[in-house]
Amino acid sequence: MTAWRTPATLLTRLITTLTEQSVSRTPGNLVSVRLMAALAVTVVATGVGAFLAFGSETPIEQPASFSHRIHAGQVGLDCQFCHTSARRSTVAGLPPLTTCRGCHLEVKPDSDLVAPIHAAWDQQEPIEWMQVHDLPEYVRFDHSAHVNRDVDCSTCHGDVKSMETAQREVTHSMGFCVQCHADNDAPLDCTACHY
Ligand code: HEC
Ligand code: HEC
Ligand code: HEC
Ligand code: HEC
Ligand code: HEC
Repeated sequence: MTAWRTPATLLTRLITTLTEQSVSRTPGNLVSVRLMAALAVTVVATGVGAFLAFGSETPIEQPASFSHRIHAGQVGLDCQFCHTSARRSTVAGLPPLTTCRGCHLEVKPDSDLVAPIHAAWDQQEPIEWMQVHDLPEYVRFDHSAHVNRDVDCSTCHGDVKSMETAQREVTHSMGFCVQCHADNDAPLDCTACHY
């Protein structure tokens, strides 16, 4: 499947597939219209994005203190201890307040850094963690398909054990996804990953 390896051949394959799909009157027709729209938006957005952002991303700020380095690194908790649905669902999920509180009634209960957990509990309001990853809405993704095939979290999320709050270390570009699918006999048809 080396045909996917360079952006140029990828683009050629894309254009060929799009053309084939819009000729054959299959449901792929609808997909390709949406993808064409997405492509047009991306071309414009890339230009604007490059103009506005040029360079590195600013770290994502969170409303409360949390450290993956301490919990997953030092304490050694498994990722799925907190992200419990990764194995059985499309989403990995974030831990509810009770998970944090369960430990922190005992561990450093009086720490100022832990205070937001108790405050949120008293008000019965969840901590609203900011979203770190966000695929465009026309992309389909499924955690369980990958986790059950033993793809490690770090392949797609980087060395989270060494991070405080999570940051985007791996870019989830189409090339990134397609390359690994090609190498592992995973589906390559457009509708596997696109609505
Ligand atoms: C094959 C790549 C891949 C693997 C493996 C993977 N993730 Fe993800 N993860 C993603 C992508 C892509 C998103 C963004 C999804 C979106 O925006 O719809 C994401 C989003 C998330 C999110 C936020 C949204 C949600 O699903 O709750 C969490 C938390 C997460 N991943 C944790 C994990 C953990 C923990 C593991 C290992 C058990 C893992 N991921 C394995 C690619 C992956
Ligand atoms: C399995 C038990 C456990 C769970 C669950 C847990 N923590 Fe912790 N947490 C710890 C331990 C152990 C430490 C390290 C304490 C130390 O430094 O002695 C810690 C440290 C912290 C600290 C730093 C405290 C300080 O004063 O240095 C914060 C903040 C924190 N946790 C927040 C959270 C949040 C938010 C959650 C839920 C998302 C959570 N914890 C879930 C066990 C846990
Ligand atoms: C003690 C609970 C806990 C453990 C253990 C834990 N996480 Fe998290 N994780 C969180 C919390 C709370 C957030 C939300 C704050 C943030 O973004 O860092 C989060 C966020 C994330 C996100 C970003 C979600 C998004 O919005 O896109 C990813 C990815 C992630 N974790 C991966 C991992 C991986 C991989 C491991 C194992 C190495 C792991 N986590 C272990 C609690 C945990
Ligand atoms: C490390 C390799 C790897 C990466 C990276 C990867 N995948 Fe996968 N993907 C797989 C494997 C392996 C399967 C399982 C195929 C199977 O079960 O037959 C899979 C399955 C899937 C499925 C389920 C398909 C189906 O019809 O069952 C979707 C959807 C998917 N991947 C989307 C994505 C997206 C989107 C990305 C990028 C954000 C991505 N994948 C990145 C290896 C990968
Ligand atoms: C393994 C998953 C996967 C497969 C298979 C896949 N795509 Fe994608 N595609 C993605 C992801 C992820 C993005 C979003 C990339 C981003 O946000 O940077 C994307 C984005 C796009 C875009 C928007 C423009 C761009 O490059 O970001 C178009 C158009 C597109 N795909 C067309 C297709 C077509 C046509 C096919 C079939 C030949 C296809 N894709 C197959 C994962 C996939």
